[in-house]
Amino acid sequence: MSVHKLLLLPGDGIGPEIMAEVEKLLGVLDRAAVARFETERGLVGGAAYDAHGQAISEADMALAHSADAVLLAAVGGPKWAGAPYDARPEAGLLRLRKELGLFANLRPAVCYPALAEASSLKPDLVDGLDLMIVRELTGGVYFGEPKEIIDLGNGQKRGVDTQVYDTYEIERIGRVAFELARQRSNKVTSSEKSNVMKSGLLWREVMTALHAREYADVRLEHMLADALGMQLVRRPKQFDVIVTDNLFGDMLSDVASMLTGSLGMLPSASLGANDPHTGKRKALYEPVHGSAPDIAGQGLANPIAMIGSLAMALRYSFGLAAAADAIDKAISGVLAAGLRTADIKGSAESFVPTSQMGDAIARELEKTLV
Ligand code: IPM
Ligand code: MG
Repeated sequence: MSVHKLLLLPGDGIGPEIMAEVEKLLGVLDRAAVARFETERGLVGGAAYDAHGQAISEADMALAHSADAVLLAAVGGPKWAGAPYDARPEAGLLRLRKELGLFANLRPAVCYPALAEASSLKPDLVDGLDLMIVRELTGGVYFGEPKEIIDLGNGQKRGVDTQVYDTYEIERIGRVAFELARQRSNKVTSSEKSNVMKSGLLWREVMTALHAREYADVRLEHMLADALGMQLVRRPKQFDVIVTDNLFGDMLSDVASMLTGSLGMLPSASLGANDPHTGKRKALYEPVHGSAPDIAGQGLANPIAMIGSLAMALRYSFGLAAAADAIDKAISGVLAAGLRTADIKGSAESFVPTSQMGDAIARELEKTLV
């Protein structure tokens, strides 16, 4: 049985509660002899700041570099509002993404039939929804320089962020999107604001050329990011793979999450390039949602996005697609049986705490595997 090195970074807020549910599933996979995981734990975000005065320590960065995959829950919270900018909780997450070279962020939005009622949209618009947002994750306005607030000396200040993309960055994220589309419904929607941004214009040109050169068999359409936001809530099932930049991808994936019933449902994978020598790629898996400090510690968190992130790790890092499918099936199974956490309760009478949802999914998985 293969042994995989996993670094667990529970982070802040509801992070530790949802990570605990993932650990139950690791136990099931181990007992079912699917795979063995050697886990280490580290601190990121506010938790790391409290312990080390840094959003992630050098030692934990080293663990992240040497792990086969990192599972991260969530960072941030009002407690650290006064932390220095470079040590704020989000800085830990951004450092992991940048230093591990995780340029490709896969954010699937799938609406389980049992949850069509829980979406804020009409059920028939989202029932059966299955789209994939491919978000560029190490470039754009998140990392572009200059990035600063300057004092103009006349009682005014100026805040500056820089949106910047080079050809190679657009090409490599484009390839990820086209390759995924080939395994799905063969359609890519590329999104930017080429009508007002030079970086958007280059994005469109590079995607068009890459498509003509290497992926002419895939259907490519371009859609301005504002229009795409509108179409996501108007007729979301028209999309298959959406590829877009770091900032638009951040916004559009939050929008897409509500189509699935709750932000608590969306997992994600952040992947680096394949190492030509080992064939391996660095990877980090995390839910799309944040640390939800307002509900932390009350058993109100939905662990499904975190558990779905483990399933993505099995699929994209460990070649365990069948086990990943089994987890997805366990999730849809407990939902179909009517189990709900608070966020997806809808009009249901009652809901279960975080740990009971995790237990139920673990039991369901155990039934399939053992
Ligand atoms: C996300 C989050 C992060 C982002 C924050 C926490 C820095 O919103 O992963 O979508 O903006 O990328
Ligand atoms: Mg976000």
